[in-house]
Amino acid sequence: MGEPHRVGIVGLGVISAQYLGTLAHHPGVQVAAVVDLDRTRAEKVAADLPGARVAADLDDLLAADDVTTVLDLTTPGAHAPVALACAAAGKGRYGEKPLAADLAAAREVAAAATAAGTRLGCAPDTVLGTGVQTARAAVEAGLLGTPTAATATWVSPGHERWHPDPDFYYAAGGGPLLDMGPYYLTSLVHLLGPVAWVQGAASRSRDVRTIGRGPRAGQQVPVEVATHVTGVLGHVGGALTTVTVSFDAVASHARPIEVHGTAGSLVVPDPNRFAGDVELNRLDGDGWEVLPRAPGSWTPGAGSACWRWSARPASTTPGARRGRAATSACTSWRSCPAC
Ligand SMILES: NC(=O)c1ccc[n+]([C@@H]2O[C@H](COP(=O)([O-])OP(=O)(O)OC[C@H]3O[C@@H](n4cnc5c(N)ncnc54)[C@H](O)[C@@H]3O)[C@@H](O)[C@H]2O)c1
Repeated sequence: MGEPHRVGIVGLGVISAQYLGTLAHHPGVQVAAVVDLDRTRAEKVAADLPGARVAADLDDLLAADDVTTVLDLTTPGAHAPVALACAAAGKGRYGEKPLAADLAAAREVAAAATAAGTRLGCAPDTVLGTGVQTARAAVEAGLLGTPTAATATWVSPGHERWHPDPDFYYAAGGGPLLDMGPYYLTSLVHLLGPVAWVQGAASRSRDVRTIGRGPRAGQQVPVEVATHVTGVLGHVGGALTTVTVSFDAVASHARPIEVHGTAGSLVVPDPNRFAGDVELNRLDGDGWEVLPRAPGSWTPGAGSACWRWSARPASTTPGARRGRAATSACTSWRSCPAC
């Protein structure tokens, strides 16, 4: 495997535990430095990570020769500033979704990384898991015939019910589309190809949310973004996807993703997770069947894309080889094993 890839982590909140579960003891990765606006969070993490130190601030982390890639687990409003700073410092950056809080900032980030020649990647990497990979293999094998349509549905009453600091979900860069949409849209682009056009509508049910758990329980959070979003995506191949993502609904029986074609219908497991059964109903078949896991697919954990793309030489271009569109799981898709 050679020398471990040296990673610096910025942002050590709720999601960092999942990443550390994947990366902390991975032989291909050495977490060299960590930093958070809340230094006590960084100190707590570094105490459990042999070889990791607490950086004074982001500039200090970016100045370190032993940090090659920055893993950005900050909240969405910080993603673009952190990514721009990484590019300016010549560091690769893999971060949580969304890539930036709005499209203009995302384009600026991508342009800066391109100009600097640095790597840029963005969650979700769940698309690399057995669920979406098995579904993709089924589509590519023609089991659906010609893909015609898909649906994607994710609803909840809102993350303020469980997240101790849910403010970012209701500020610019938040909302169900930028928070949960990336899992679904990444999967749909992966399965049905790029999106040529979009129509949509959105609404906001109320102006404040009340934190349900943790030290701030009972505090109110202002809502600045749409909290129910629905739309239609026109894929370049002609298939139409109907998407609904919402912080304004209690529950749903809808399957996370269904893909339909002239020869079959496919149920794709929740793309918020790496694995799950893929079910196919063939035209003139005997009903629903669970497909075997796609050969070669695996079930990684959060952050797998980070070490995989950072460890893979830039000259390796499986995305180009397979001739498929980039997924938002991996804006550095040319080095992504799944693209
Ligand atoms: N919580 C989840 O279950 C979950 C799941 C998937 C993805 N995510 C994504 O992960 C990201 C972080 O979510 P979270 O739940 O861990 O949030 P969080 O609020 O729990 O943690 C974010 C951390 O980042 C730090 N931070 C913010 N700006 C910073 C900056 N400029 N420099 C240094 N540190 C900074 C904060 O101090 C905080 O400790 C978000 O983009 C979110 O969408 C979260």
